[in-house]
Amino acid sequence: MKNYSLPPGYNFLQSLMRTYKQVKNPIGTMEESMKIYEGTYAVDLGARRLIATQDPGFIDYVLRSNHKNYHKSPIQTEELGRFLGKGLLTVNGDYWLKQRRLIQPGFHLDKIHALYAIIKQTVDNFLRTMPEGKVDVYPYMHKLAFEIVINSLFNIEVPQTTRDQLSDFINEVQEFVIKDLRQPYKSWWFKLSGEVERNLQRSRTARRIIREMINTRKQSGRKFNDLLDMLLDARYEDTGEPMHEDQVIDEILIVLIAGHETTANALAWTLYLVANHKPELEKLKSSTKNLSLTEITTNEQLANVIKGSMRLYPPAWISDRMALSDDAYGPFTYPKGIVIILFYYGLHRDEKYWPNPDSFIPDRFSKENEDKRKPKAFYPFGGGPRLCIGNNFAMAEMAIFLQTMIHAFEINPTDVHPKANPLVTLRPNRVLLDIKKSRNSGTN
Ligand code: HEM
Repeated sequence: MKNYSLPPGYNFLQSLMRTYKQVKNPIGTMEESMKIYEGTYAVDLGARRLIATQDPGFIDYVLRSNHKNYHKSPIQTEELGRFLGKGLLTVNGDYWLKQRRLIQPGFHLDKIHALYAIIKQTVDNFLRTMPEGKVDVYPYMHKLAFEIVINSLFNIEVPQTTRDQLSDFINEVQEFVIKDLRQPYKSWWFKLSGEVERNLQRSRTARRIIREMINTRKQSGRKFNDLLDMLLDARYEDTGEPMHEDQVIDEILIVLIAGHETTANALAWTLYLVANHKPELEKLKSSTKNLSLTEITTNEQLANVIKGSMRLYPPAWISDRMALSDDAYGPFTYPKGIVIILFYYGLHRDEKYWPNPDSFIPDRFSKENEDKRKPKAFYPFGGGPRLCIGNNFAMAEMAIFLQTMIHAFEINPTDVHPKANPLVTLRPNRVLLDIKKSRNSGTN
């Protein structure tokens, strides 16, 4: 066998032990290893070899400068793909590029502008139902993020039962995928007990519901300026043909899953941080009064607070890529097939790139501080050609929500502090805040 010069790391037995420890405490275990091996280490699990890194140069190499040599690993494509189909998030290679080229224009800033009013309406309606007192805001943010994404996809009355069915499907598939990933030794049991089939059945039901909505839309002959119109109107450059109906369904399911929990987590962490940093909250309030929707989505303070929150709690705290052929980075050489784990959470809190790494300081992201920031050290939306396609949409919806929320409610901390629960996304376990409608809030 060829001699590779892998990064320093763990031998087979140590790797097995680390993996066991990591199931219990993924972030802590990785942070510990990153300290020992200075930001990049290897794990040897026999047939499966991994490199984990929080080195911004290495991450940039994999995501951007040599991206052609990397695909997403089967965990991201096959595992999620069997329930969600073949949409942008779950495919690789030529098909991914073809779909990305087709869909990308629909997410440009000028296109998503048309969705701001839908988002604002959804937020206003939602905040009218928000309870007061000591409230765990996480489930509310989860529901709100789903409402925003479903209303932006289908800018028509979607009946509550349909919303509930789709939301349950997304949540259940996600729960199952996490369970399957964490307990791979139980895969045979999940098959035998019918759990896999139950989830596949749910997936078929979700697809049938979406198909009916698409048909209703096509028959109506009307335009709604929403994401569904964008998907139906998109044409492949070479053939001028639209997507097949099944492809549209695949992409809708992907938008539902990719745009839901990530946003919910970012919103909940952001509320927690501003509640616990009163001077930041007051500064934000005074600089965001009476803004138009366009002003909200371009407001620097709102964006900086959201970035500050996603630096500390990146909803996509980790990702991976698999090398398609032997490759090298710096002093390391490694074989085809090796999986590179990109530990964004670790990089976002690495003091080499972020002084006072654990502090919430939104001003780090201000234009004046641009020169002081180290490049390539911030990956809330990933990077390179597979950068989150919904990043502008996500920043806009978060800004609209945050601006509305801080003026409509007084937000105070409690002595309960959430723990970060690193599942597929970085979920807070409980975000207990003390909230009260502001006088003149206009939300009652
Ligand atoms: C705070 C909210 C969000 C965060 C933190 C986030 C983060 C990410 C990240 C890190 C990736 C890249 C994954 C990788 O490279 O392995 C990604 C991809 C993606 N995201 Fe987002 N996302 C958010 C919101 C959204 C929204 C609102 C949508 C849709 C409306 C969306 C749709 C997608 C899609 C379709 C992809 C796959 C793109 C591709 O591979 O070409 N995301 N997201």
